[in-house]
Amino acid sequence: MKIDVLLGLQWGDEGKGKVVDVLTPRYDVVARFQGGPNAGHTLEFEGQKYVLRSIPSGIFQGNKVNIIGNGVVLAPDLFMDEAKDLERSGHNLHDRLLISKKAHLIMPTHRLLDAANEAAKGKNKVGTTGKGIGPTYTDKISRNGLRVGDILDHFEEKYAAHKARHEEMLRALNYTDYDITEVEARWMEGIDYLRQFQLVDSEHVVNRLLREGKSVLCEGAQGTMLDVDFGSYPFVTSSNTICAGACTGLGVGPNKIGEVYGIIKAYCTRVGAGPFPTELFDETGKKIRDLGHEYGAVTGRERRCGWIDLVALRYAIMVSGVTKLIMMKSDVLDDFPVIRACTAYRLADGSVTRDFPYDISEGLVTPVYTDIPGWQTDLTKLTSEAQFPKAFSDYIAFLERELETPITIVSVGPDRAQTIER
Ligand code: GDP
Ligand code: IMO
Ligand code: MG
Repeated sequence: MKIDVLLGLQWGDEGKGKVVDVLTPRYDVVARFQGGPNAGHTLEFEGQKYVLRSIPSGIFQGNKVNIIGNGVVLAPDLFMDEAKDLERSGHNLHDRLLISKKAHLIMPTHRLLDAANEAAKGKNKVGTTGKGIGPTYTDKISRNGLRVGDILDHFEEKYAAHKARHEEMLRALNYTDYDITEVEARWMEGIDYLRQFQLVDSEHVVNRLLREGKSVLCEGAQGTMLDVDFGSYPFVTSSNTICAGACTGLGVGPNKIGEVYGIIKAYCTRVGAGPFPTELFDETGKKIRDLGHEYGAVTGRERRCGWIDLVALRYAIMVSGVTKLIMMKSDVLDDFPVIRACTAYRLADGSVTRDFPYDISEGLVTPVYTDIPGWQTDLTKLTSEAQFPKAFSDYIAFLERELETPITIVSVGPDRAQTIER
């Protein structure tokens, strides 16, 4: 059996959570492989709305195995809140959620360091989610991290040593005006709560399940443009959000990868700082934000909105070997007489390129647009491709030609049911 991987191809919030929930019935296992509570994955069904941060979006569909892999960074207090919310709404997790002992722990002081680093960057700040993601991955790579498996043995000593090191770093950054007593107490409560779960060597579990013929879906967080290697560096997150991240974040060989689903919005959004060539600062951008309810699921921040960027998408498809595209939020464009798509960039020297350049900072690239007639039809009630207005089918065909990849699923609303397979 192969592992299928589902990834965001833009700057995150493409609708990954919804699609994972929709696809889960076809799989035995759903696994997260990178990121942490910086993610906010929204699912809607039966009139209920859920936002997941660290728990895989396969948790709602039947008795599937859900795995938090080694590539994830986990905040025990936030995980406890999230899990208890699910339990309260009648979703028991304990028998279905496995957590890798190799996943790294986000400490309260990591969140302080996140804030201190941002403050030190001043006007160049990344606009992080403030969840301690960068400092936790930094500790992992510099071989200073604390892992889930560490809570099983002499944990207090290890914690104190890591905390002391962080306090020293905070002093060096002149960031000393804080009191984490309460947060720390809840965090420790989260550690005790975590001990009630099955803490496993998830690489063995995943590979054994594959050998047994089970199917696995990997759920990406963030998006390709936030990938630490290939995104709009340094305005990125601190993990590999591309397909290769599933191999390192779960311990599976690349030859085990099957389909690679790329999730795109019919337009584009970004939260936080950094370049965004197709960003709209006018009424059109505001209209997309209002109609698409484009506000961050984690921080509530306004999402920046713009037209779809096919240069960036071709690049995202290339670096992950995307085999199928899934287009979300098509309905948000229902009302637009004309829809624009960026097909190339004009560079500072006047030349035009379809290849994603090294630097997309403001002033270095100007989008070259193709205008496409809008469908001006309500898509939200449609249930099959046969009902698509011609202009919508033409938009899909245009994107498939430009991206040389089939769009196999189209989403026309936030609900699980508003999903159309082609
Ligand atoms: P994720 O981080 O990729 O899982 O995406 P988010 O959950 O952060 O953001 C996607 C938002 O769009 C959520 O509020 C979803 O409920 C919503 N959504 C998903 N698909 C559709 C769609 O097809 N149409 C509309 N209108 N909303 C959608
Ligand atoms: P999902 O999984 C959108 C952005 C932050 C910031 C940058 C770095 O819901 O798509 P970090 O806290 O990771 O150090 O912040 O990345 N960011 C996201 N933007 N969706 C996300 O996740 C994001 N996770 C991080 O806004 O610009
Ligand atoms: Mg999100």
